[in-house]
Amino acid sequence: MNQGLGTALVTGASAGIGAVYADRLARRGYDLVLVARDEAKLNALAARLISETGVKAEVLRADLADADDLRKVETRLRSDDITMLVNNAGTAVAGPTIEMDPERLEAMIHLNVVVATRLARAVAPGLAQRHRGDIINIASVVAIRGDQPAISVGYGASKAYLLAFSEGLDSELTPYGVRVQAVLPGVTRTDLWEKGGLDINALPQDIVMETSDMVDAALAGFDQGERVTIPALPDVSDWTAFKTARAALLPNISHRLPAERYSRRRADSVSQ
Ligand SMILES: NC(=O)c1ccc[n+]([C@@H]2O[C@H](COP(=O)([O-])OP(=O)(O)OC[C@H]3O[C@@H](n4cnc5c(N)ncnc54)[C@H](OP(=O)(O)O)[C@@H]3O)[C@@H](O)[C@H]2O)c1
Repeated sequence: MNQGLGTALVTGASAGIGAVYADRLARRGYDLVLVARDEAKLNALAARLISETGVKAEVLRADLADADDLRKVETRLRSDDITMLVNNAGTAVAGPTIEMDPERLEAMIHLNVVVATRLARAVAPGLAQRHRGDIINIASVVAIRGDQPAISVGYGASKAYLLAFSEGLDSELTPYGVRVQAVLPGVTRTDLWEKGGLDINALPQDIVMETSDMVDAALAGFDQGERVTIPALPDVSDWTAFKTARAALLPNISHRLPAERYSRRRADSVSQ
């Protein structure tokens, strides 16, 4: 076992953002566990990283939508050598909710929400016990688009869950010396778009980031200790202002009585 940085388990490492994370983490000196369904691609990536960097790279083929495979990955995450989980595997189903195949909608929510939560839940106790380690959750800027959804409402909502889960879990784990970073990429040039039936080349190209730039920026945010990283956001104080506005609501969102505008007395006086 690598006594330095330990081992990072990366889900969705066969392509796109996950494959770049694997590359960058290997170059930093992490040993790797590479998880996805396409074993041939994982084997090719592992062989390249072993020869180029000298780290250990293990392939763990798993369909995370399959309960037995998910348990296999959870078991690997409970090993003592694990110091990082990159919760990256995800999918996007595009289109209006009322036209969406409910089975595909459910499968997306299962992978983006349930699987990511289960994997974080599996790794967190060991990291907390050892007072060491990090969880990186790949969410998306769609998490904060609210009533202006992009790709699909369900996709945005699944990533909003992951952002909320990351922020809350970070509060729980920080006292144990464990950090949780949520990464919110904007449009990133990967196969996710084509798989979702969308043409990335039809988008204005000034909103499309190359995958290597996205991951390098996210890791720069990680190095700076950020809990939420939005790689494209020029001014980080815009995110701080968003959080401050949210926090300002907190003293006033639970009271014994409803707000004055909802009170019966006011309704009666309005109707008179
Ligand atoms: N691209 C963007 O514009 C963008 C923007 C914001 C956020 N994101 C997020 O970034 C993450 C990575 O996406 P990407 O753009 O890199 O997409 P991608 O190129 O389609 O890669 C997705 C990865 O997830 C794996 N995967 C999918 N279903 C899986 C399953 N059931 N079990 C195991 N692995 C599975 C795929 O591997 P196999 O097919 O080999 O299983 C692949 O390695 C996702 O969570 C996505 O929501 C992407």
